[in-house]
Amino acid sequence: MKKTILALDVYDLQKAERLVKETSPYIDIYKVGPILFLQSGKEIIKIIKNNGKEVFLDLKFYDIPATVKRSVESAKELGVFSLTVHSIGGKEMLKAAASVENRPKIWAVTVLTSQITAPEEVIRRAKLTKSCGIDGVISSPLEIALIKKECGKDFIVVTPGIRLAKSDDDQKRVATPEIAVKEGADFIVVGRPIIEAKDPSEVAKIFMRVL
Ligand code: C5P
Repeated sequence: MKKTILALDVYDLQKAERLVKETSPYIDIYKVGPILFLQSGKEIIKIIKNNGKEVFLDLKFYDIPATVKRSVESAKELGVFSLTVHSIGGKEMLKAAASVENRPKIWAVTVLTSQITAPEEVIRRAKLTKSCGIDGVISSPLEIALIKKECGKDFIVVTPGIRLAKSDDDQKRVATPEIAVKEGADFIVVGRPIIEAKDPSEVAKIFMRVL
């Protein structure tokens, strides 16, 4: 499976469909977050799957355990490949999410990459999620190696905040795709560098080539 996950952070279904079509030779998984899901959730999931691709549903569930468990069950019905929960929901919530049978993969957010934080806190949260049966975490490029060391090679690390060169946006903890993968990232999540490019297909191809 290709390592780049494309974040479809757009409002418009037609634009999202165009992005899927243009980049499909280089991308296997598309991330659908609240921006697009609230506009056209089921339609975009169908489009992605009809193109033979997988969906990463990034709604970062954070609620009481029973509600999160039912949310995971609903996501499973949609046929998504993976979804996110927020690690600050705590042990009971994480266990409830993980308890759903034949569920999508669950990746937990440790700390948002737009926030600055101590690595110890990221590790603490990563270990907590692993002990609750969660499959992996979303983590900034800076903590990948430490997470792999502390949680083991098979614990999936998905890394946003990836830039081909130095950028000037809200991501505080960034790295190039080469560095992220060298550090041990299983997947990288890329949004604006591809979706805001003049030629998204060309930039997606560059990401695929360097990985
Ligand atoms: O546009 P950009 O490449 O910064 O997009 C990164 C994507 O990863 C966004 O959709 C953002 O919501 C998501 N993300 C993140 N940090 C996390 C979890 C998800 O940047 N910890």
